[in-house]
Amino acid sequence: MQDIDLHGLLGIARVARGRAYVPYSKYPVGAALLCGSGKVYPGCNVENAAYSICMCAERTALCSAVAAGETEFVAMAVIADSDRPVPPCGMCRQALWELAPNMPILLGNLRGAERKTSSRELLPDGFTADDMPTLPVS
Ligand code: THU
Repeated sequence: MQDIDLHGLLGIARVARGRAYVPYSKYPVGAALLCGSGKVYPGCNVENAAYSICMCAERTALCSAVAAGETEFVAMAVIADSDRPVPPCGMCRQALWELAPNMPILLGNLRGAERKTSSRELLPDGFTADDMPTLPVS
């Protein structure tokens, strides 16, 4: 098991936040995802004039890691200029449940407030493939 430097991860998330594309909300969010290979994948929110297809920082990091071939997700950090350490949205919690159901997560804000949590704590009862008993077996 590799050592997890959650504060280092939060620093990478802060840099990624600077690359966010947020012309609509003007609310940049950064994420960083440490994977089993030891690589860290940054994420930022990427918005769109069709608002509903906006991508959150957390899912951007997850999708980048999957696209790069990662299969093991070790830890994540997320940061925004929020009053409290930024809480991931429900959609991101469900996305985390699928790929990293019990992963440590450090949430932060620009004022230095932090909350250490986990994907399991953020979404204790996610929807899973087992909830679709009629799913055809491949
Ligand atoms: N957002 C994230 O990227 N992550 C979060 O944890 C909360 C919300 C983004 C989505 C949208 O681009 C902006 O923040 C405002 O909701």
